[in-house]
Amino acid sequence: MQAPVLIFLLALLLPPTVPTSLESGSRRPTSLHLLSEHPDAVCLDGSPGAFYYSPSKPDSASADTWVIFLEGGGWCFSETDCSSRAADTSFLSLGSTSGLAKFPNHNPRYQQSIYSPPSSQNCDANPVFCEAHHVYLVYCDGNSFSGGGSSSSPLHYKGKFILDASIAALLDMGLSNATSVLISGDSAGGLATILHADQIAATLAASAPKLERVKALPMSGFFPPLPTTEGFPVFAGQMESAFHTHNSSAGVPALCLEGKKEADKWKCNTSPDALAVMTTPLLLLNSAYDAWSTSCIYTLGEDGACGGADGWGMPCVGDASFAGDVARIYGPAFLCSREQVGELNEWRAGFLEQLRGTGLYERKGSGAFLHSCHTHTAENLPNAQWIEVGGVKLVDAIASWWEADEGAEFLDFAPCEWSERYPHQCNPTCHSIS
Ligand SMILES: *[C@@H]1O[C@H](CO)[C@@H](O)[C@H](O)[C@H]1NC(C)=O
Ligand SMILES: *[C@@H]1O[C@H](CO)[C@@H](O)[C@H](O)[C@H]1NC(C)=O
Repeated sequence: MQAPVLIFLLALLLPPTVPTSLESGSRRPTSLHLLSEHPDAVCLDGSPGAFYYSPSKPDSASADTWVIFLEGGGWCFSETDCSSRAADTSFLSLGSTSGLAKFPNHNPRYQQSIYSPPSSQNCDANPVFCEAHHVYLVYCDGNSFSGGGSSSSPLHYKGKFILDASIAALLDMGLSNATSVLISGDSAGGLATILHADQIAATLAASAPKLERVKALPMSGFFPPLPTTEGFPVFAGQMESAFHTHNSSAGVPALCLEGKKEADKWKCNTSPDALAVMTTPLLLLNSAYDAWSTSCIYTLGEDGACGGADGWGMPCVGDASFAGDVARIYGPAFLCSREQVGELNEWRAGFLEQLRGTGLYERKGSGAFLHSCHTHTAENLPNAQWIEVGGVKLVDAIASWWEADEGAEFLDFAPCEWSERYPHQCNPTCHSIS
């Protein structure tokens, strides 16, 4: 076995490092709020939906700025799939808050988000939002906060109710005094940001009289429903199933549904169709070689294993199905063969084509920061601020987009293409995170 492969495999076995200085010392007090007074705002198993809240720094210039972050963690596509989420009552569960209610400080996904540019309270990592109010919605519904409830199932498909009840509770806690609000989230929470930012913005416009600015920062949430390398539209079928299982027609953008035939309505549950009707100014942050997508959409095997398509698997794409937003170290580009690099470059091209098709690039006040690191939700890593595209650091791109006015030119940070020549990676700053 070659040394780099061995190091990579060892890295997979080790838990991500968590600098304790950030974990406790510099973090303002955070509390878990259970939505116990909202009978419809429940997780798959019927336990109450929940969010974490951490107030702004006292007397800060950011005292009227709020960051609302939507947690991710994949989706459950079918009743069987969702039942296993509901049956998990540990504090790691993606279908219940019963374990979390006992151990509120143990949500590992929450612990990781506190390093990401919008949620970190470390002003080096997150200069713009470090002193703001921070909200983190716990993900326990299984379809990006879009479930409309179903009377025909013992499970509770109520993601949209959790979202609405959280915003209502937060308005009472001071969100109604906000002047600036950032809506963000990663992975399935990045998709949730695309799905719901307009509706959250409309609620805020009606309930927060001092509101001046609402923007959205979806991270690692653009999942093109493209076919596998073998030509099967598996992910599209999964999202179609999720849309129906969760009865999500009232939880996806109404504007998207308007133009669609009955058979195509599920597409409003996917990133491209939801993004196409979005009007809130956004900065789309994504890898054009997102590791979950290359593994669990593009190289999904016939047996349903991520990275299981013929000729793939370790070490190039790996099996990202275990990711659950905890492990995010995948095969760096140099572990892929020339042929694989060629196919992954086709994924990048398909990703960009789907993104262009949404009309995003014509929107003033918006932007896209697309890197080429083979990672998923790398923005949560403590050193994410070192990722650069076109010589601009991620945190600086976020700052200029956030400060830009509505008529500002589209900010286009375009992803380079992997080289056929070893070591393939075209963005040298990816070394800081992989
Ligand atoms: C689906 O959700 C809508 C509200 O969004 C509700 O009126 C309807 O009864 C639900 N369908 C089922 C089968 O439960
Ligand atoms: C909004 O600000 C005012 C003035 O500081 C304060 O009295 C009020 O309680 C705040 N509202 C909420 C919901 O916190």
